[in-house]
This record gives sequence, C-alpha cells and structure tokens, in this order.
Amino acid sequence: MFNDSLVFITGGGSGIGRALAHEAALRGAHVWVTDVDGVAAERVAAECVAAGGRADARRLDVTDAAAVARTIAEASAARGRLDYCFNNAGIGFAGEFRDSTLEQWQHVLQVNLVGVVNVAHAAYRQMVAQGGGHLVNTASLAGLIPTPGLSAYGTSKWAVVGLSHALRLEGEALGVRVTAVCPGFIESNIYARTIVAGLKADAMRTMAPFPIMPVEGLIPRVFDGIERNRALIVYPFYARALWWVWRLVPWATRWKGLAQVDKIRREYRTVA
Ligand SMILES: NC(=O)c1ccc[n+]([C@@H]2O[C@H](COP(=O)([O-])OP(=O)(O)OC[C@H]3O[C@@H](n4cnc5c(N)ncnc54)[C@H](O)[C@@H]3O)[C@@H](O)[C@H]2O)c1
Repeated sequence: MFNDSLVFITGGGSGIGRALAHEAALRGAHVWVTDVDGVAAERVAAECVAAGGRADARRLDVTDAAAVARTIAEASAARGRLDYCFNNAGIGFAGEFRDSTLEQWQHVLQVNLVGVVNVAHAAYRQMVAQGGGHLVNTASLAGLIPTPGLSAYGTSKWAVVGLSHALRLEGEALGVRVTAVCPGFIESNIYARTIVAGLKADAMRTMAPFPIMPVEGLIPRVFDGIERNRALIVYPFYARALWWVWRLVPWATRWKGLAQVDKIRREYRTVA
C-alpha cells in the first residue's frame, strides 16, 4: 500500500515520528519529514535515504497555519498527490490543574490541538480534492481514559480523538480515511522535553504507572491498523485493557485514578 506513495509526517525528527518515517521509507514511500526542529528533520530524512529510501525534509512548526498549508501544498505538488499524512507532532505537559498556568494550557493546546487541526485542515482538503488519502492523527491513551496529573495533555488528546471520529464519518463517502493512534507509554524524547507544573522535572517518565514500551513494538501495529483502516489503533496490551474497562465499567477505574493522584502528591509534587 505504501510503495511509491507520498507520506507527510509532522514531528518526524524524533521518537514515534522518526520511527514512522523509517518504516514508510522502508516500504517504498517518498517521505516528507517535517519538524519544528529542522536539523532533526534533515537528520531523519538522511537516515531514510541512507537506508535506501526516498525522503525530503522541511522545518515546519505546526502552530503556523500558513506554513503548514504551504508545505503540504508543496509536498502534494511535488508528487501530484498526498497519500498519507501522519499528523504526529506533539508535546508533553504534566502537573496538577491547580499548579498549571493558563499560558501553559494555551501552549499545550496550541501545539497538540490547534497544530493538529492546522495539519488536518490542509491535508484533508487536499485528499478530498484528489479523491482519496489517509489521515493518521497521533492522539494517545490519554485521549481515551481520564488522566489525572495530565489534564491539559489529556484534554488535547481527547479532542484529537473526537476530531478523528468526526472526520472519519465525513470523509468516508469522499474517499478519505481517518485513523487515530492511541499509544500508551512509548520510549521517546517526550519524557525529557515534557513541561512540568509543580512537579519534579523527570515526573512524566517516573510517574508513568505502566511500562514504557519500545517504539519498535508500536510501528507494525500502526501500519497494520492503517492497512485495515481501523478507526483507532490502541497499543500496547495495557492500553487496550484500560480502555475496555473504562468503557464497560468506568467506576472500576476510579481506584486506579485516585491512587495515581495520591502517588503524584506524595512522590512528585514540589509545591508546598
Ligand atoms: N511517547 C509516548 O509515550 C506517547 C504516548 C502517546 C502519544 N504520544 C504522542 O506521540 C506524538 C509524538 O511524540 P513522541 O513521543 O515521539 O515525542 P518526541 O518528543 O520524541 O517527538 C515529538 C516531535 O515533535 C516535534 N514538535 C514539537 N512541537 C512541534 C511543533 N510545534 N511543530 C512541529 N513539530 C513539533 C518535536 O521537535 C519532536 O521532534 C505526540 O503527539 C505525542 O503526544 C506519545
């Protein structure tokens, strides 16, 4: 499915986006690696080429709607179409709601939600115009279940899941497929870069209540889910289990959430 396709990736300079770029290039796609860190995007594109693939790189900040529209138009024009768009760029933010500022909320929502809308808007319209395509939004397990201590991040990811469900229905008769990827904890640079409010600097990593999984396990699930045109790709096993429990017996997840709040306050909160 990916052979000779055009694959556009945001946040492709690191972690999940980088691994998606490698896999798409390996499958014969022409990959456009974009990232707000232009050097990282160039590096990943060079890795794809060194592995025998085809790749271009651009510096792209997803919060800049005009630049997003321009870059997606450029990529689409270069190949005549846009087959897959991995709407993946995102940032982490951890902290209790009472400790976070409105400026921090705006920053997280700007990147994780408005940025995703900017990319979806340009990519989806291109796909409608050409009569097909697949938009793959990276949400999170935090977009499927309650996430105490990650309220801003969780809010952005629930919104991305909602956007994906709506676009999937709107796009069906237009030939545009839409999938949301909802990973649990995946090894990447997000933990080191996460902004914290009132928490120890490494809290995002150390307070993770479930194992942080290698990215290599996620990628085949993503490509398999795309081929099967899944609405949601939820990985790993504990993410699927938690999501099911939350939907079937929401009260049963209450103790886990309250225990997490207690743990955060005892072990990670730095505010007196
Ligand atoms: N790692 C996890 O545990 C995990 C779990 C669930 C969801 N996610 C989501 O996966 C996506 C990728 O995260 P990751 O874990 O690979 O993190 P990462 O930090 O390794 O990579 C994220 C990339 O996004 C880029 N980026 C940040 N702000 C940007 C902007 N404004 N415009 C363009 N690029 C920008 C960064 O430069 C970085 O290269 C994010 O949306 C994240 O929320 C990650």
